[in-house]
Amino acid sequence: MIPVCEPTLKGNELKYVEDCIKTNWISSAGKYIKLFEEKFSEFCSTKYGIACSNGTTALHLALESIGIKKGDEVIIPDFTMIATANAVIYSQARPILIDSEDKTWNMDPKLIEEKITDKTKAIMPMHTYGHPCDMDKIKNIAEKHDLKIVEDAAESHGALYKEKKTGSIGDIGCFSFYGNKIITTGEGGMIVTDDEKIAEKARLLRNHAFTKPRFIHNELGFNYRMTNIQAAIGLAQMENADQLVESRINNARLYNELLKEVEGITTPPEEDWAKNVYWMYGVLVEKEFGVKKEELMEKLKEKGIDTRSFFYPMHLQPIFQEDDERFPDTKGNYPVSDMLYEKGLYLPSSSSLTEEQIKEAVEKIVEIKNGK
Ligand SMILES: Cc1ncc(COP(=O)(O)O)c(C=O)c1O
Repeated sequence: MIPVCEPTLKGNELKYVEDCIKTNWISSAGKYIKLFEEKFSEFCSTKYGIACSNGTTALHLALESIGIKKGDEVIIPDFTMIATANAVIYSQARPILIDSEDKTWNMDPKLIEEKITDKTKAIMPMHTYGHPCDMDKIKNIAEKHDLKIVEDAAESHGALYKEKKTGSIGDIGCFSFYGNKIITTGEGGMIVTDDEKIAEKARLLRNHAFTKPRFIHNELGFNYRMTNIQAAIGLAQMENADQLVESRINNARLYNELLKEVEGITTPPEEDWAKNVYWMYGVLVEKEFGVKKEELMEKLKEKGIDTRSFFYPMHLQPIFQEDDERFPDTKGNYPVSDMLYEKGLYLPSSSSLTEEQIKEAVEKIVEIKNGK
């Protein structure tokens, strides 16, 4: 089976993890945390990096660090992974959904302003599958209405909006280093920012809001710390970061080329102003393909090619259909998001994927189209 995604651990990962164990530094104290934070924030061209336990806690920490509180509204895409919405709810704020745009699959900036109220405090654009959002438009709206921008860059390590890395464009960028991410620590996350105050606050809240004297707490903090072992893997990943990103892009180029002639498959977007890093190589299965998405996925599995469906939109999530005062605004009509779910799947996308594996995946797609 060609998996949808597996980590690429071909550098100093083992050596650095061994060092943690041999030196007894396995908790969240230890040299690798700072080294990883420095390297990753440098990679994003931001001043500060604050490592944490996963991408979801990065989002929550970011919202807490900019002072999001009960009753606030935070604008998020409808088409995302549920962690974006959940982080808002963990901060007792309300997620407000925005439909996607056809051309990038991301939050449609044209639809944001009509959802802004006097309770709106932040916008959380998410760079879907590695393609950046149209950030100038989102920044203009945020400036006009005095809103913070928290980028959910969980899927877009290394992607560029114009000349800038995703995660470095808004007030805070949030990353995930889950096992399927372009840069991974198994589980892990990081927030990056240029704002010293936000960085300080995030460091404080990440660690139970410990102050001096110890065990006296003035704020509600969390244990969102990353371990030295995770950071050791992260540092090794950073030594190959550019290569890990470029491999994803090369995979996409080959897929694009091979799928060009296959009628009914829409290949992923890349706007002129964007560098898509194709975290996942997503395609849309159109009517003209002749076989529906679910059937294609099943048949590919039988032929040894693993795939995943696109996200299930937030407004369709069973939990968000419930009558619950914590999320009263999660229903409604989001047609582009529905369309993406209906047609979208992603193909094997690991950085370690070989040319032969990509060719094999496309051959099987063609076979299925031809009824074999
Ligand atoms: C867009 C988005 N946001 C947040 C997350 C959450 O990251 P984690 O699984 O590390 O908590 C993910 C994870 O895949 C994601 O895709």
